[in-house]
Amino acid sequence: MEIYRHPLYYEIAFGFIDAKKQVDSFERIIEKFSKIKVKRFLDIACGPSLQLREIAKRGYEAVGLDLSTEMLAYLRQKAKKEKVKIETVKADMCRFKLAKAADFAFIMMGSLDVESNERFLSHLDSVAGSLKKGGLYFIQNKIVNWTSEEAQTWTMEREGINVKTTFRTHWKDLLNQTYIEKCTMEVNDHGQMIKLESEEELKFIFPQEFKTLIQLNGKFEFLGWWKGNCDTWHLNQPICKENLSNENMVLLRRK
Ligand SMILES: C[S@@+](CC[C@H](N)C(=O)[O-])C[C@H]1O[C@@H](n2cnc3c(N)ncnc32)[C@H](O)[C@@H]1O
Repeated sequence: MEIYRHPLYYEIAFGFIDAKKQVDSFERIIEKFSKIKVKRFLDIACGPSLQLREIAKRGYEAVGLDLSTEMLAYLRQKAKKEKVKIETVKADMCRFKLAKAADFAFIMMGSLDVESNERFLSHLDSVAGSLKKGGLYFIQNKIVNWTSEEAQTWTMEREGINVKTTFRTHWKDLLNQTYIEKCTMEVNDHGQMIKLESEEELKFIFPQEFKTLIQLNGKFEFLGWWKGNCDTWHLNQPICKENLSNENMVLLRRK
């Protein structure tokens, strides 16, 4: 995907998150739900992972997994500059096995993208094989409201680089529940204009189907679905039909 070959532009575009608040939230969630002590975090589809950089600063072990060589090289370079230790693993999120299992795994920014239910089940198998029993898997923000198509545009600026991002989804095949996700970044890098575009066909997993697939996989307990914003999740606000929100997170626990 073209946009993932430019980690700096990606980091600028998605730099609106507050990693400190997110990691504070992780720590609260761990205290409430984890059955094990957490020393080792795994970020799946980590990208430039502002989160792992914060996690490593707090003294935890940090592992980032991604398919993009450029993203992982950028993350290693940032870790070196910030004098923190981050391990990187280049692998497909649906087919991996860590040499040393993690105590907490997370995936952010709706990155759990799969093309089929088989890939989703294989993803769950991979996470289960690399997460200790009693450990949590935190999944952020895949849309649950399939009745509306999404389009968002925002602009971010850092170090004289301006990035306008447009993100769109639209249905492709209703019978097979597939949709097209398109992301465009229009970059002005000190006067040099660059346009990056990525498009993918993905399978929408309906909320009840998602829960059924977790049951079918059998390796996780489904702890719940909660509302949030991009940095904080409200454990006192479970998602229900009156409270449907695309800003959400799901929590699973390894059996
Ligand atoms: C939306 S970005 C999220 C990056 C970061 N976690 C964040 O929250 O900003 C998605 C990331 O997933 C990675 N990715 C895409 N497909 C993948 C796959 N099959 N396995 C592992 N990583 C993948 C991309 O390279 C990219 O870094």
